Amino acid sequence: MKKTTLLLISILTILSCKENKNVFIKDTTHQQKIESIISKMSLEEKIGQTNLRGVSSRAKVLPEDLKESVRKGNVGAFLNIMNLEFVDELQRIAVEESPNGIPLIFGRDVIHGFKTIFPIPLGLAATWNSKIVEKSSEIAAFEASATGIRWTFAPMLDIARDSRWGRIAESPGEDPYLAKILGKAYVKGFQGDDLTNPYRIAACAKHYIAYGAAIGGRDYNTVNLSEPLLRNIYLPPFKSAIDAGAATVMSSFNEINGIPATGNKFLLKDVLRNELNFDGFVVSDWDSVTEMIAHGYASDEKHAGELAAKAGLDMEMTSEAYEHHLKTLINEKKISIKELNDFVRNILRIKFRLGLFKNPHRNKNHTGDFYSENHLKVAKKAAIESTILLKNNKFILPLSEKTKVAIIGPLADAPHEQLGTWSFDGEKEHTNTPLTAYKNSKVNFSFSKGLNYSRDASKKGYKKAIRSAKKSDVILFFGGEEAILSGEAHSRANIDLPGAQEELINELAKTNKPIILIIMAGRPITLTNIIDKVDAVIMGWHPGTMGGEALYEVIHGISSPEGRLPVSWPKTAGQLPFFYNHKNTGRPADSISFIPMDKIPIAAWQSSLGNDSHYLDVGFTPHFPFGFGLTYTTFKYDNLSLSKKKIKFNEELEIKTHITNSGKKDGKEIVQLYIQDIVGSITRPIKELKRFKHVYLKSGETKEITFTISSKDLEFVNHELIKSAEEGKFNIWVGPNSAQGLKETFYLKE
Ligand code: NOJ
Repeated sequence: MKKTTLLLISILTILSCKENKNVFIKDTTHQQKIESIISKMSLEEKIGQTNLRGVSSRAKVLPEDLKESVRKGNVGAFLNIMNLEFVDELQRIAVEESPNGIPLIFGRDVIHGFKTIFPIPLGLAATWNSKIVEKSSEIAAFEASATGIRWTFAPMLDIARDSRWGRIAESPGEDPYLAKILGKAYVKGFQGDDLTNPYRIAACAKHYIAYGAAIGGRDYNTVNLSEPLLRNIYLPPFKSAIDAGAATVMSSFNEINGIPATGNKFLLKDVLRNELNFDGFVVSDWDSVTEMIAHGYASDEKHAGELAAKAGLDMEMTSEAYEHHLKTLINEKKISIKELNDFVRNILRIKFRLGLFKNPHRNKNHTGDFYSENHLKVAKKAAIESTILLKNNKFILPLSEKTKVAIIGPLADAPHEQLGTWSFDGEKEHTNTPLTAYKNSKVNFSFSKGLNYSRDASKKGYKKAIRSAKKSDVILFFGGEEAILSGEAHSRANIDLPGAQEELINELAKTNKPIILIIMAGRPITLTNIIDKVDAVIMGWHPGTMGGEALYEVIHGISSPEGRLPVSWPKTAGQLPFFYNHKNTGRPADSISFIPMDKIPIAAWQSSLGNDSHYLDVGFTPHFPFGFGLTYTTFKYDNLSLSKKKIKFNEELEIKTHITNSGKKDGKEIVQLYIQDIVGSITRPIKELKRFKHVYLKSGETKEITFTISSKDLEFVNHELIKSAEEGKFNIWVGPNSAQGLKETFYLKE
């Protein structure tokens, strides 16, 4: 980092402190107690606080050596212990027998529900609804806390622009504004206003940072990123979560511009501590300290520990570089005792904030109300709100309950799969599949899977499926991906429907019965090969415990599909990464100059003229744009008007539009506002989401919608790392998605 850059960062730090809204920024409540404990701790005990350990899930009894480690104060926290007796015993030893009685924290990946599973985070993002995200996290915390868990490794706030990346399923999508709103909601839901509440759990904003920018969408891959890009796109969701009080942050596996995040002083100290004023603790990802050796950044375990400690990493997950080497590193004066004390301070602060010193034990009377009526109700609502209607030829949907349907496809009755990635504790016995929902309905249906699982390539089930299709009015094909095809380490280079699903759909199409494709998957699935064969498409994500009823209600119009895409939906994986808020290039693509591959004359003279930034075979647009989602009605936008043509710095602009439900059914629209800063000191995205509103309209009803933005919303970080808005002309759109809308212009000028 150059000196000038550092200077600017310091200036920025001072500036950003002023506007920092971190709820804990002046919280020194526990400072005295923390200092008093630290003054009594041995070096070993201090190092112990930085250790996050696991217990083998196969262990029938607690290993004696582990108990002894806790007794000596050599462990600070545990992850993934689901044996309640172990939890109780370890905590008892920690508070009653360890030198200073410091309680342990028990953490787990409670990502989109604990027992009651909500849609995968990308599905929750498709709701564009912070309230449902908050509620689902609150329920997850309530259920999880019954087992002694007081810390979740969530929310995952990595902006994801590449659907090949398996972890897109866990992400808030591709847009920083939406991710900011959801990040805050997750933290509020998990933590509430008071972490001492034993039904709440500490959040962990992860993976810090830019994990989603892995080259080629391949998990763990290298990231190259300019600092303005880091600050404009990847950092805002983390800032939002930290401002909302996120207790912990997890450093990511990836390297960024040559330095692994886990050993990155600039990211962990300069940005996270000094700029964002984060005062909780930073935990590494699983072995990410020692993985710096494979990265080629650390020479051995000791060096890895030194690099992580120098960078300011407080707690090490699973690997043991701190445990093995911190003492020597301190003796060799490579790491100071002050640095270690700071780690301990940060960790104890969160233990105090969680009320663990007063109330360390699991409340044995707290049952968690697993799968209670209310929890299931919220799970169903979340699943309904996350479904996106992508295609609906001639309004074939919703179906009347009198329609005779043939239920086909590998995901129609796959309770484990529909829970999606990171749902360790959800049980398939409690999962409501589409087939269950139909069994509980009055609809006349037949069921024949056709394929046993999503990757199944066998044709054995075709005949039966085709036979039942022929006897039906409409085919409901529940396709997609098994849960294991997305999530960590599960990137795919080809994101078509796996196995023989396309082939089976082609066969079914020959029956001439209408086909409704319901996708249950962890990512957008490319549909180019089969889109013309199906009459309607619903994206249901992996919808969780109540997915079956939710989809049933949407298909039959008892509920409406309410979701909007939180990511662009590509035509082919070859277009990836694809995101709506890209830059223009010097030769922006447009439909007038675009010459598709098949129109190029044979033996054409090589010329770039007339060509622009597109692919010859698939053009330059996605299959479905960010923000897209049809409804069972139609909406008309008109009368876009601005309160002013010109605003000054810190002045507000009011934007009004009329929206009419021009269809026959009542419905909800998510009205979206985008801007474009046409000329900037660095090039600017062609569109950026700045506001959205959920609007319910009865058939025929018109409402006036008002948005307010100010010059603050126009700010960005430029190459000098200054965050400001720049004078000039701006485009503004209000509409149903990132590709459509009414357009106006305004100026920012002093
Ligand atoms: C590795 C994953 O990257 C992270 O998200 C998760 O929280 C930890 N493992 C713990 O399971």
